[in-house]
Amino acid sequence: MKTIDDLQVAGKRVFVRADLNVPLDGTTITDDGRIRAVQPTIAKLAEAGAKVVVASHLGRPKGAPDPAFSLAPAAKRLGELLGTGVAFATDTVGESAQATVAGLADGQVAVLENLRFNAGETSKDDAERGAFADQLAQLADLYVGDGFGAVHRKHASVYDLPARLPHAAGDLIAAEVTVLKKLTEDVKRPYAVVLGGAKVSDKLGVIDHLLEKADRILIGGGMAYTFLKAQGHEVGISLLQEDQIPAVKDYMKRAEERGVEFVLPVDVLISADFPDLKTKAPAHPTVVAADAIPADQEGLDIGPKTRELYADKLKDAATVFWNGPMGVFEHPDYANGTKAVAQGLLDSEAFTVVGGGDSAAAVRLLGFDENAFGHISTGGGASLEYLEGKTLPGLAALED
Ligand code: 3PG
Repeated sequence: MKTIDDLQVAGKRVFVRADLNVPLDGTTITDDGRIRAVQPTIAKLAEAGAKVVVASHLGRPKGAPDPAFSLAPAAKRLGELLGTGVAFATDTVGESAQATVAGLADGQVAVLENLRFNAGETSKDDAERGAFADQLAQLADLYVGDGFGAVHRKHASVYDLPARLPHAAGDLIAAEVTVLKKLTEDVKRPYAVVLGGAKVSDKLGVIDHLLEKADRILIGGGMAYTFLKAQGHEVGISLLQEDQIPAVKDYMKRAEERGVEFVLPVDVLISADFPDLKTKAPAHPTVVAADAIPADQEGLDIGPKTRELYADKLKDAATVFWNGPMGVFEHPDYANGTKAVAQGLLDSEAFTVVGGGDSAAAVRLLGFDENAFGHISTGGGASLEYLEGKTLPGLAALED
């Protein structure tokens, strides 16, 4: 894979596929981690005299312009971080994009509007995607892939466009891949994996794969209740994916056969009501043993004994990968489980990797110093699919 140092960029239009898919509250960015992560690549190209054309998706608009998903706030933030401002095109390949790119001087940066405002970006039809990639290719001389969070998507700007232009991996993708390799090749043991988040179904592939690699798998978040149910416990009105119970049972059996320690919550915080995330009004949760959730209550975070247990299981690890919050961390009464895992990573001597949008945002929103972790990945789905051993279209496309 070539890197940007292999490209002659001075005076050239360089298309940077970034992942500026940041969480927004209206037009306010609530976590700018992904913009900060790609900013050095863009600055480096601009300093080397490139005319930098930055493009990304944001959210999941339906293939047509939708102001709720405009990249304008992200473009503004990128301009602030660069300290130079950026030009913003109000479309992707239309008049505004063409004029904005044509107006760039060497060393200047433009951001295109959300790529998913064009149906060709995400189309399953190769010809439709290819036609959009042809239009994007008109805007640039060189391509730099640096949107790590989107490399698992076979989308026009991720997969088809690099085939049409001389290309290289940006510094963010290069760094992400170097780290993920440490989690798949010659892993330092004990290797502990902490998985949380709402759905087991999102994590099936990675659990399947990690059963062959990890020494310990700790489960939390909404997905834990499907595991507890599979063990025969009642989970009240907690999140549950009944259809995944057979798969989950199979994983627990395989873990036992292989000597992989599978660790489930021993206690949980419960309530009859989901907390108000806007007002953050006190939720008054109750602590119960994980096998004693009443029928009318739902589990919303791991409990204090589980926090201690998980911190203990991380203490002597040499490698830790963590993806997914342990509870509804957006509410202070249900943030302690996620905080305890973050602190557990910091307190261990391990090489620690925090994977993914939600857990990365949680770490920052809960006030942890992101530099204290070994690596905070900008890709959620992308890092999971990498660990599953899948070929990622956006990385395959950057191979020479
Ligand atoms: C992400 O947030 O994981 C990436 O930006 C990819 O977004 P997507 O899941 O909408 O493709």
